[in-house]
Amino acid sequence: MTRLLERFYGCLKSSNVKKHENPEYRRQEPEYFILNSDFWLLNSVSFGFLHKEVYVRLIVGISGASGSIYGIRLCEILRGYPEIETHLVITETGVKIIEEETPHRIAQIIDMVNYTYENDDLFAPVSSGSFITEGMVVAPCSAKTLSAIANSYTDNLLTRAADVMLKERRKLILLFRETPLHLGHIENMKKITEMGGIILPPVPAFYCNPKTIDDLVNHTLGKVLDLFGISHNLFKRWDRR
Ligand SMILES: Cc1cc2nc3c(=O)[nH]c(=O)nc-3n(C[C@H](O)[C@H](O)[C@H](O)COP(=O)(O)O)c2cc1C
Repeated sequence: MTRLLERFYGCLKSSNVKKHENPEYRRQEPEYFILNSDFWLLNSVSFGFLHKEVYVRLIVGISGASGSIYGIRLCEILRGYPEIETHLVITETGVKIIEEETPHRIAQIIDMVNYTYENDDLFAPVSSGSFITEGMVVAPCSAKTLSAIANSYTDNLLTRAADVMLKERRKLILLFRETPLHLGHIENMKKITEMGGIILPPVPAFYCNPKTIDDLVNHTLGKVLDLFGISHNLFKRWDRR
């Protein structure tokens, strides 16, 4: 992966420097909390009165399924929440599919987040449960990555970080994208659900009258933010009163 990124984008200066830090968003010794989602929503305003800045960490994984726009847009949206520190892992196929189906360059996506790691860097902080995070979203999640997570086959950083979420009982949301499905996919989704993960397929809703692809993407990502208790205006809520 390091080689891949270097070859295509020159993002990393040397193979020893596996972590990309975005200095624009780097912060001085922040305090980190695991926040209960409801608590986060209710108190996001009152924290200002306490004059105490609260940071939470979220991990975004982009695997090699169609729909990499979901992961990219999620990084873009999270950039608008300065209190959330973002950590990104993209799989090797994920990198190629981003190139294939979006106009985005990897360097642009790296610029949207606070930290990016190589998928083969199993020494990265997000591979340890002692590194406190609020949760992880894999968007999109391929059938291969779904299977690896369901079976704890954690031979890369993305699946290891997801496994950590499950073992530490943190939030794990998978935007599993494949169709049609065979029983193996369904059983893997069941396994992950039983272990506490959330399967959130990027299935569009039409009750909010989407006009653009962006509307469809925003709706799914709004559902993701809802699960973390993060307030947003990504879609118009159903409220016929
Ligand atoms: C253009 C393209 C689109 C793909 N779309 C999907 C998809 O939507 N869902 C899926 O499960 N696999 C899809 N695949 C296959 C995965 O990329 C492949 O299984 C890969 O090994 C996944 O690896 P990863 O999960 O480590 O990224 C696609 C492959 C290509 C080349």
